[in-house]
Amino acid sequence: MREERLDHEHQALGSLQHELFEREVGRARIAFVLGSGLGSFADTIENPQVIPYAEIESMPQSGVPGHAGELVVGELAGVPVVVQKGRVHLYEGHDSREATRCVRAFGLLGIPNLVLTNAAGGIEADWDVPALMRIDDHINLQGCTPLGPHETGHRQVYDEELGAALERAAAESQVELHRGVYAAIPGPSYETAAEIRMLRWAGASAVGMSTVQEAVAARASGMRVAAISTITNPAAGISETPLNHDEVVEAGRLVSERFTRLLKTFVPLA
Ligand code: HPA
Repeated sequence: MREERLDHEHQALGSLQHELFEREVGRARIAFVLGSGLGSFADTIENPQVIPYAEIESMPQSGVPGHAGELVVGELAGVPVVVQKGRVHLYEGHDSREATRCVRAFGLLGIPNLVLTNAAGGIEADWDVPALMRIDDHINLQGCTPLGPHETGHRQVYDEELGAALERAAAESQVELHRGVYAAIPGPSYETAAEIRMLRWAGASAVGMSTVQEAVAARASGMRVAAISTITNPAAGISETPLNHDEVVEAGRLVSERFTRLLKTFVPLA
């Protein structure tokens, strides 16, 4: 059964690679994956060509509000880029290979750099929200990995050179960029206060429900990977009030000007 599923996924990945190749997605030098509420970054792309996921047969489809479901191909500061606006999550019922199919296809097409972004809860009590954090390592608590039996993972998932380029871009664009560990939980429920105490003790600064599967898969396929969390809310037990998805999307909107400035400055430095 497991063999059959792997075989099916292998075929789906091949089809997606082919479909994206036909749309010239492989020209991109940097691929971006945008998290909840961060879609407006894609509006700044020059000569945009928009491909709705519905027109890509082998693309897993997402139903989460705040995730648009389209690829935007174009240029930023003269550099060819592709933006994946909206991703699928494990909590929607996708397995880890399906959830990483698109970034694997980017890797197979030879796109060398991947920038993953997400919305996350903040664990550091003294960071104002919304805040931006460069992920320099992660804790995978999702109970799965996207790697098959014959793939090797890497101890260092996030690329140091790309990370340094993000730091330079932050200084140049005068955007405050924290740095820390991202803990990934399965979701869709937010954490309890006790879970946040555990994560803080374990050294995490942010918590969310995405990114780590894609980071591991892309790294294994040879891409350089960087990742940024927009910390949209203090995590449970740190905040006084219960949180909801609308708040997360709204905070994403609030931070999007800074986020866009940072990434536009980053592109020529990558
Ligand atoms: N927890 C988990 N995921 C999230 C959060 C959070 O507090 N905020 C945005 N995504």
